[in-house]
Amino acid sequence: MVQNLLLLLLLPILLHCFPTLIQGSNQHERKPYIVYMGELPAPRAHITMEQRHHNMLEAAIGNKLLARKSIIHSYGKSFNGFVARLLPHEAEKLQEEENVVSVFPNTYHKLHTTRSWDFLGMPLKVKRNPNIESHIIIGVLDTGIWVDCPSFNDEGFGPPPRRWKGKCVQGGNFTGCNNKVIGAKYFNLDPSGPTIENPSPVDDQGHGTHTSSTAAGSVVRGASLYGIGKGNARGGVPSARIAMYKVCWTIGCSDMDMLAGFDEAIADGVNFISVSIGGPSRDFFSDPIAIGAFHAMKRGVLTSCSAGNDGPRPMSVENVAPWIMTVAASTVDRQFTTQVAFGDGKKIRGLSINTFTPEKNMYPLTSGSLAANLSGDEYGNPSGCDYGTLDKDKVMGRIVYCAGGTGSQDLTIKELGGAGTIVGLEEDEDASYTTVIPGAFVDMYTVGKNIEIYINSTKNPQAVIYKSASTRFPAPYLASFSSRGPQKITPNILKPDLAAPGLDILAAYSKLATLTGYPEDTRFEVFNIVSGTSMACPHAIAAAAYVKSFHPDWSPAAIKSALMTTATPIKGNDNFTELGSGSGQISPLKALHPGLIYDIRMNSYIAFLCKQGYNGTSIGILIGSKSFNCSGVKPAPGTDGINYPTMHIQLLSSSSSISAVFYRTLTNVGYGTSTYKAKVTAPEGLSVNVIPDTLKFTKLHQDLSFKVVLKGPPMSDEKITLSALLEWNDSKHSVRSPIVVFKPTF
Ligand SMILES: *[C@@H]1O[C@H](CO)[C@@H](O)[C@H](O)[C@H]1NC(C)=O
Ligand SMILES: *[C@@H]1O[C@H](CO)[C@@H](O)[C@H](O)[C@H]1NC(C)=O
Ligand SMILES: *[C@@H]1O[C@H](CO)[C@@H](O)[C@H](O)[C@H]1NC(C)=O
Ligand SMILES: *[C@@H]1O[C@H](CO)[C@@H](O)[C@H](O)[C@H]1NC(C)=O
Ligand SMILES: *[C@@H]1O[C@H](CO)[C@@H](O)[C@H](O)[C@H]1NC(C)=O
Ligand SMILES: *[C@@H]1O[C@H](CO)[C@@H](O)[C@H](O)[C@H]1NC(C)=O
Ligand SMILES: *[C@@H]1O[C@H](CO)[C@@H](O)[C@H](O)[C@H]1NC(C)=O
Repeated sequence: MVQNLLLLLLLPILLHCFPTLIQGSNQHERKPYIVYMGELPAPRAHITMEQRHHNMLEAAIGNKLLARKSIIHSYGKSFNGFVARLLPHEAEKLQEEENVVSVFPNTYHKLHTTRSWDFLGMPLKVKRNPNIESHIIIGVLDTGIWVDCPSFNDEGFGPPPRRWKGKCVQGGNFTGCNNKVIGAKYFNLDPSGPTIENPSPVDDQGHGTHTSSTAAGSVVRGASLYGIGKGNARGGVPSARIAMYKVCWTIGCSDMDMLAGFDEAIADGVNFISVSIGGPSRDFFSDPIAIGAFHAMKRGVLTSCSAGNDGPRPMSVENVAPWIMTVAASTVDRQFTTQVAFGDGKKIRGLSINTFTPEKNMYPLTSGSLAANLSGDEYGNPSGCDYGTLDKDKVMGRIVYCAGGTGSQDLTIKELGGAGTIVGLEEDEDASYTTVIPGAFVDMYTVGKNIEIYINSTKNPQAVIYKSASTRFPAPYLASFSSRGPQKITPNILKPDLAAPGLDILAAYSKLATLTGYPEDTRFEVFNIVSGTSMACPHAIAAAAYVKSFHPDWSPAAIKSALMTTATPIKGNDNFTELGSGSGQISPLKALHPGLIYDIRMNSYIAFLCKQGYNGTSIGILIGSKSFNCSGVKPAPGTDGINYPTMHIQLLSSSSSISAVFYRTLTNVGYGTSTYKAKVTAPEGLSVNVIPDTLKFTKLHQDLSFKVVLKGPPMSDEKITLSALLEWNDSKHSVRSPIVVFKPTF
C-alpha cells in the first residue's frame, strides 16, 4: 500500500523524466482521435466536463495516469467531445460507449485558395440597416488576421454588442483587436504537431486576412495592388464585426483545431461562420466541419463553406452537409491580363498579375528548350523550365518561354537571373496568378506555339512583359477550378448550393506574408489579388449577413433559401457546370425579397438523417435526447427527404429511367395575400409535373405544400445531365429552383 502510494507520488516525476518508462513503446503508436459525443449533456454538480471526459478515457485505457497524459483537449462549450492520443483498440472501445456518436482519427484539411461587390449589384450606397448590421458578428475559421491594415479600421464603430462573450488573445506579432475585429483566438492543440512560427492569432499566410476583409472589411477608397484593380475595397457588410479563430497553420488545418474553433465561436456568440477550408468528404459525424456547422445551425448560426478548387473534375465538391451553405466560385466582369510585345511588333495578352513595370523597351527572349543545361544530370523537362534543367548562362537577363512544366517556373527563372517568363499552360485557366518576376500565362497550343515559332525562326528574338491591367470579361461564369458534383455522401442533394465571386479578388492581406507566398518574394502589401472558392465563401456569408440585417428572425435555412431562389443561373463550357454552380450566382439585393422560402426546421433535419440511415441512437445523442428512436418520427418523404431549395437525383445506372418525387413546403414571407403559379422549363426527355401548380397564400408566414414529379426514359448516350427549372411566380417575385438529373456513365 505504502509502496503503491510512493509509486503514485513518484510517477509524475518518473513520467516527466522517462516518459517511455510506464507507457511502454506503444506510446509512440498513439495517434490523436476525436471522440465526438453530440449535444452538451445536462450539467452535473461537482463534476466538470473535463473530469467526465477523463473518467471515460481512463475506463477505455485502463490507467489513470496514461489517461491524463493522453488527453489533448476537452470540447464542451457548444457540443460534447474530446481529443486524446489513443491506440486503435482504445478508439474502438470508446466508439462502443453509449454516449459516443463517432470516434475518428485527426486529419488535416487545406485552405481553398488558388471589384466584386459592385458587380453583385451592391454599390457603395446600397440601402443598409447599419445599426442592425453592426450587431452582426461574423466568425471566421482561418489562418489568423492582420488587424493593422486599412480594411479593419474601426473608425465610427461603437463597442462590441453586449451579448459578445469572445476575447482577444495576445501574443507575438499580433497587435490586438479593435471595435471592428472584436475577437481573435488561436488553436494549436496537438502537442506532437510541428512547432508553430507565430503562436498568436496573427496571420502569417494572408489567407485569413483576405477572407475576413471580403466578408466584413471597412470601406477603403482607392485600394489596389500596385495600381492594379484600383477601386473601393470593402466587405459585403462593412458595419459588421469580425471574430477570428485561427485554426490553420503552415501544415494545414487539423480536425481537432477546427472543432475547437467551432466550439468557441458558437459559444462566444457569432451569428455566422465562414470556413474557406476543405478536405475529402466524409460521413457527416466524422467530419469536423459538418459537426461544427450542425451545432452552429442548432443555435441559429449559418455556416458557409468553400466547395473546393479541384474543378473542373467531377465529383470534387467538398463540405456537402445540407445545413452548410456550400459555395462555388464564379467570375466577376473583369479579368487581369498582361500584355506581352515581341521584337517583330506582335502583341499578345496573357493572364497573370504582374506588378512590375518594365525598365527596358525590349529584353532578349529564349525558350526552355533552347536554354537547356546540356551537361545537366537532373531529371525533368527543360522545355517546361523544370527546376534544375536550365543553364544559368542562357537564362540570365532573358525572358524565358516555358511550355507546360510542373509549375513555379517564375521562381526557377528568378533564381537563374532571368528577366521574366511566359508560361504555356496545357489546361484552360481563368484565374490570374501573381508572379514573382514579370510573367504571363498563355495557352500552350495556340499563343504559346506561335511564340516558340517566333523564337526558333528569329536571330535575336525579343519581348517585353508589361504591368497587368484589368479587362472586361463576360460574367457570371463558373470558374474552371471550382469543384463540381456529383457528390457521394447524400447523392440526391445538389451541391454546391450557389456561387459567389472567387476569381481575382482584391482584398486585405497580411504584412507577414509575401504576395506570392514565396520567401524569395520581397513584396509585402496590405492588399492582394487572390483566386479560389476560399474567396467565394466569405462573399456568400456576407450576403447572408446582409439579408439577416433586414430579417433578423429568419433561420439559417431561410436565409440560405432566399439567396438560392433569387440567384442568377450561370453558364459554363463543360458538362458539369450545372453540377458545379447550384442555383447560380448570388444576388444579395434580390435576396431581401424572395417572396417565398424553403425553410428547414430541426425536426426535418432529424427525419432526413433517419432516412439517410444514421443510427437512431446516434441521432439522439446529437440532439441531446436520450430516448430517441427513428421509428417514432414520420418518415421523410420523397427522393431526398428534405425541404431543399434545389431538386436533384443521381440515376443508379446509365440505363435507368427517370423517376423521382420531391415534396416541398413554401413559407410566405412576401405579401399577405398572393397567388403563385408554377412555371417549368424542362428539356426534351424529362417531364416535370408540379402538383398543385398554383399556391394561394392568404396570410404571411403561411406554409403551403406541393410535390414535383419527374419522369423520363433512360437518358441518351451523349447526355450526362438534364436540367430543368421550376419557377414560382406571383408577378412580383420569381422563386427559382434548378432541377438536375445526373446520369452516371456506367
Ligand atoms: C514580427 O515580430 C518580429 C519579432 O518580434 C519582428 O522582428 C518583426 O519585425 C515583426 N514583423 C512585423 C511585420 O511587424
Ligand atoms: C548544369 O548542370 C550541372 C549539373 O547539375 C551543374 O553542375 C552546372 O552548374 C549547370 N550549369 C549551368 C551553367 O547552370
Ligand atoms: C523550337 O526549337 C526547339 C529546340 O530545337 C524544339 O524543341 C521545338 O520543338 C521548336 N518549336 C517549334 C514550334 O518549332
Ligand atoms: C460532354 O459529354 C459528352 C458525352 O460524354 C462528350 O462527348 C463531350 O465531349 C463533353 N463535353 C465537354 C466540354 O467535356
Ligand atoms: C445503433 O447502434 C448501437 C451500437 O452500435 C446499437 O446498439 C443500436 O441498436 C443501434 N440503434 C438503432 C436504432 O439502430
Ligand atoms: C424503436 O421503435 C420501434 C417501433 O416502435 C421498436 O420496434 C424498436 O425496438 C425501437 N428501437 C430502439 C433501439 O429502441
Ligand atoms: C416572374 O416575375 C418577375 C418579377 O419578379 C417578372 O419580371 C417575370 O416576367 C415573371 N415571369 C413569368 C414567367 O411570369
